[in-house]
Amino acid sequence: MVRVLFVCLGNICRSPMAEFLLKHLAKERGCDDQLIIDSAATSREEIGNPVHSGTVKKLAEQHISCAGKRAIHITQCDWESYDYLLGMETSNLNNMTRILREADTKKIHRLLDFTEHPRDIADPWFTGNFEVTYHDIMEGCLAFLDDLEAKGLIQYKRKVQK
Ligand code: 4NP
Repeated sequence: MVRVLFVCLGNICRSPMAEFLLKHLAKERGCDDQLIIDSAATSREEIGNPVHSGTVKKLAEQHISCAGKRAIHITQCDWESYDYLLGMETSNLNNMTRILREADTKKIHRLLDFTEHPRDIADPWFTGNFEVTYHDIMEGCLAFLDDLEAKGLIQYKRKVQK
């Protein structure tokens, strides 16, 4: 079992988009039973709040539901509970290291570091552009799943037309 926690600032825009998109992609590839996927915030502003309407809309366009998701805060236990702590941008990684009080950062990555073009994912809370966010997160999730599969950590049991 591979345990993945997506992390962003508020846990209402980017990390829930990544959580529900990766769950969807894993199901399509028949490997959802090999993954535990969740998401959390490094700030406290949005704790308990539902997913932002911009993210709900982009997911709904792909017939993906994120109903019931509420923003939660990352906790120190998450270092033990997850194998991958995936931030959206460099500041998320710095905040995670501070909150988790871990000098060892080997589990912490940016999502797009798994792609051929490592970069930050801009915050749509500020840009208002959920379309760009969706494409960035899709690119990252596909690359991340392929990386797990290439490493033999998961197995695709279903073939998906690309
Ligand atoms: P997210 O976006 O980190 O992608 O969920 C944000 C949502 C809320 C806030 C900041 C970023 N906020 O400051 O409340």
